[in-house]
Amino acid sequence: MRMSRRLEQVRPSLTLEVDARAKQYRAEGKDVIGLAAGEPDFGPPPMVNVTAIEAIDNQLGRYTAVAGHPDLRREAAQAISNLNGFNYKSSDIVVSSGAKQSIFNVLYVLADPGDEVLILSPYWTSYPEMCRALALKPVVVPCTDDFGIDPEVLARHVTDRTRAIIINTPSNPSGRVLSRSELEGIGRVIVDKQIWAICDDIYGRLVFEGQEFVNLPMAVPELRDRSLIIYGMSKTFCMTGWRIGFVAGPQAVIKQISTIQSHSTSCANTIAQIAAAKALAETDDSFIASMVVAYEERARFVLGFLGEIEGLVCQKPQAAFYAFPDVSFWFGARLGDRLINTSLDLAAALLDEALIAVVPGEAFGAPKCLRISYSTSMSELERAADRFRDFFARLQR
Ligand SMILES: Cc1ncc(COP(=O)(O)O)c(C=O)c1O
Repeated sequence: MRMSRRLEQVRPSLTLEVDARAKQYRAEGKDVIGLAAGEPDFGPPPMVNVTAIEAIDNQLGRYTAVAGHPDLRREAAQAISNLNGFNYKSSDIVVSSGAKQSIFNVLYVLADPGDEVLILSPYWTSYPEMCRALALKPVVVPCTDDFGIDPEVLARHVTDRTRAIIINTPSNPSGRVLSRSELEGIGRVIVDKQIWAICDDIYGRLVFEGQEFVNLPMAVPELRDRSLIIYGMSKTFCMTGWRIGFVAGPQAVIKQISTIQSHSTSCANTIAQIAAAKALAETDDSFIASMVVAYEERARFVLGFLGEIEGLVCQKPQAAFYAFPDVSFWFGARLGDRLINTSLDLAAALLDEALIAVVPGEAFGAPKCLRISYSTSMSELERAADRFRDFFARLQR
């Protein structure tokens, strides 16, 4: 029997695949250190669980409006306004089942099959696959050596079919924060064209000391009316499994997103929406600040031990919880009978031989790199450091 041709082009998420394999090893009793998942190791703010339990006890688990619970739309509008200084209203927001669904909805609404979407590499693994699933053409724009963006290179990738650009700063996987002037450079390329800006700001509050979060419409205010701002509860509020994300944008787009969502999920989980609204309204800034301090300390530690290993070159993370070293020095190396030619080979060997789960750079369009997520405790990172050192000492070039 035939199935959709579109999906023949779509690969399952490599990140979730590695995570699943690591979980399977653990179920077999192996002591795997998980540095693969993009999931905070902290718990959500304390009022989240209490609020959800109360909502269940009060029988509040009925459908909400498609675009979301009024309290959450209000709080989400406030949170996004606080982050980027614009003044969003409740009616500018649609709540979805995670930022992932928000991005999917946005792509669905903005572009038609065959249209092109600009994606800056290294990119979050789902952007190109979402495009392919919607029969859109992902056009990957290579980054500069330090994960920045050269406007001239970007301009060369724009065509008559370009419908949107996705910008993710701070970036998963590189931990890089784009500067205001880099964003102005992007703005200059697209401002005179019919191109939507999709700003994935999910790590916007997790920037390290000395870094400033800026998104495209902040840098180029003329783009505000064609910018879709993606935000959510997973990373900043450690509510990954609650599946709450949202988008802010122009009314016409918001209306169409509601239309498509009304025929897919109807609305996001009501209990989770109520808990998320409370988290946004009442979480003290110190909750986020202390997490950022912890991530920054871990970033220093990871950078330190990677720097001791021959051939690994890692730029200093500026935000979020990912290190993204270039590991290509080791391509061609051997470990016993095992030949390591790619980042995929290296990640597989690290898992099998050192019981460390990481994600190969192929997942992010950067096959020379490897993503190490340090959203785990310092004691786990210390154990991981020993295993990394031993593993690379055993490799033969
Ligand atoms: C860059 C980026 N955008 C979006 C998401 C999706 O987050 P959510 O859990 O809200 O679907 C992730 C999660 O890993 C991410 O890293």
